[in-house]
Amino acid sequence: MIRVYFLAAALGTTMFAAVSGEEVFKQRCAGCHEQNNPRIPQVDTLRKLPAARILRTLNWGVMGNVAYTMSIAEREAVASYLGTAAPSVTVAPAAFCADRAVRFTSDAKGKTPQPQWNGWSPGINNSRYQSIQAAGLTLDGVQRLKLKWAFAYDGDTTAFAQPTIIDGNLFTGSAGGVIHALDAKTGCIRWTYDARGPVRSSILAVNTGKGYSLLFGDQLGWFYSLDAATGRELWKKKIEEHDAARLTGSPVEYNGTVFVPVASWEENRAISADYACCTFRGSVAALRARDGAPVWHTYTVDVPKQIGKLWGPSGAPVWSAPTLDIARGLLYVTTGDNYSPPATATSDAVLALDLKFGKIVWSRQLSAGDIFSGGCSRQGIACGPDFDFGSSAILVNTGNVRSGNRDLLLAGQKSGVVYALDPARKGEIVWQIRVGKGSTNGGVQWGMAADGQNVYAAVSDLARAAVRSSDPADLRTSNLDPNVGGGLHAIRIVDGAKIWSAEPQHTCPENRAGCSPAQPAAVTVTPGIVFSGSVDGHMRAYSSEDGRILWDFDTAREYSTVNGVKGHGGSIDGPGAVVVDGMVYVNSGYSRQNGMPGNVLLAFGTD
Ligand code: HEC
Repeated sequence: MIRVYFLAAALGTTMFAAVSGEEVFKQRCAGCHEQNNPRIPQVDTLRKLPAARILRTLNWGVMGNVAYTMSIAEREAVASYLGTAAPSVTVAPAAFCADRAVRFTSDAKGKTPQPQWNGWSPGINNSRYQSIQAAGLTLDGVQRLKLKWAFAYDGDTTAFAQPTIIDGNLFTGSAGGVIHALDAKTGCIRWTYDARGPVRSSILAVNTGKGYSLLFGDQLGWFYSLDAATGRELWKKKIEEHDAARLTGSPVEYNGTVFVPVASWEENRAISADYACCTFRGSVAALRARDGAPVWHTYTVDVPKQIGKLWGPSGAPVWSAPTLDIARGLLYVTTGDNYSPPATATSDAVLALDLKFGKIVWSRQLSAGDIFSGGCSRQGIACGPDFDFGSSAILVNTGNVRSGNRDLLLAGQKSGVVYALDPARKGEIVWQIRVGKGSTNGGVQWGMAADGQNVYAAVSDLARAAVRSSDPADLRTSNLDPNVGGGLHAIRIVDGAKIWSAEPQHTCPENRAGCSPAQPAAVTVTPGIVFSGSVDGHMRAYSSEDGRILWDFDTAREYSTVNGVKGHGGSIDGPGAVVVDGMVYVNSGYSRQNGMPGNVLLAFGTD
């Protein structure tokens, strides 16, 4: 029965063959959970958990590595076979604000807009630059930052959703799929909403004239619009029917149209020997923000055909937030590798799409022939190097006539190379510079930042010290090397010259499993200050002048939290610091890639 389903999934159809939860449990879970091992919860314990919680444990929790090779239907079947019908999270009454009204002041007539950080980057150019007025943080202030409050996501092992802040309201997703509206100053809860899957895309608030709607995607391919004032669902749409689809990159909006990047975990799905690799196609979907009506949907590769045992072309997913170029009427997206042959010209590339119709106007490939999946070696394909783009292209203007007064697109790749492309010449390479060695976990991983002078690129180069443990209670697929990876580089935008480099910090204590100096998290810049987080759990602020460290906070510890849930920090990976109105918001905890688990959103302030 399961085999039938695999085939359906491989074809990317919605045809679900029935899956028996009991069968899945016997085949996939019993081996560990029926063992008499004190570190593995027994079946009786699992039976007391809500099915919704078991499902998210599989989707983005401690069972993530086990569940990678399972279809969505198998996960759902085993979760409902084991678990109860109770909701996955219950919020303690004391965690709610006394005043639960979400108010917006920016749109009221005559009011100056309040400082905000809306979506992946404060500006549509994806520079992750926050102005001094909006940041409200001086060089002196950053050195006085203290923890103001900690908020914990109940039952999660990863905190990877970057918050959006508007008029003192904080909106954020979570690995458990719960969307929270919090008071940005105190962390009390105004409302919650349960999405179907884990939400890591940052939330985009769009002013509709009748208030704000919140737009975001989940890790199952669903896209949502909520009323920001109440958390009420306005509409939701399955953007992509493929079983392995995941909406990781954040949406952007222009003129009433929202642009949604689409990626997948089919690379991991292909670890299964009986999986017909691969049928997922990266894409960008444009929808009407008001009601989700389709405007266009552009795929990065053609419809796959069966070639021997495999399917192709496939892959070229879009992991990051698209970049708007209103003047040229273009939308730039960066793509990942192909999953199966044939290789296409649109993988590991920067694509320019026509905003109105979604047509690919030009494409600049930076690594050709990169075919990678969890099954590549078994399939006899030359694997990798797996040099996706995981970060957005940044659109900048070099500013003065002497330096050419030209626009540049800055793109950082998992290969460890940062490129400046010319958007007026179909993405021709203007300069390039290597900052890291490059690896499956970056190189440059989730995002760079630019302040007009320099672009700041943090390096992951996360390294694994192989050796898989034979202990069934040790769920890590490998250990991280505590001495390899990391570093932050300032590169001059006009000519690509290296201005300074901040060496990686080697602060991993002995026996802190999952610790690494790698810096895969997105970088943030405010005037004079660059923020970069690390898998070692530290969030650091560097001087943008010379790279010296101004502030360093080790987030990997226990917290007493404003919502009363047990909180623990861990690795920093994925999103970057969000700086608004004198406060700095930091996510901590990232169990994937064998990093340190954690479940907190931390808020720092100076007074
Ligand atoms: C390789 C061994 C192994 C396999 C296979 C395995 N588990 Fe687990 N599971 C564990 C261990 C070890 C823990 C405890 C992890 C911890 O607490 O850090 C655990 C914990 C859990 C939890 C508890 C998480 C929580 O919220 O406290 C759930 C639920 C779970 N597993 C479900 C499953 C399901 C469903 C399957 C089959 C699809 C499965 N596991 C397969 C080893 C395994």
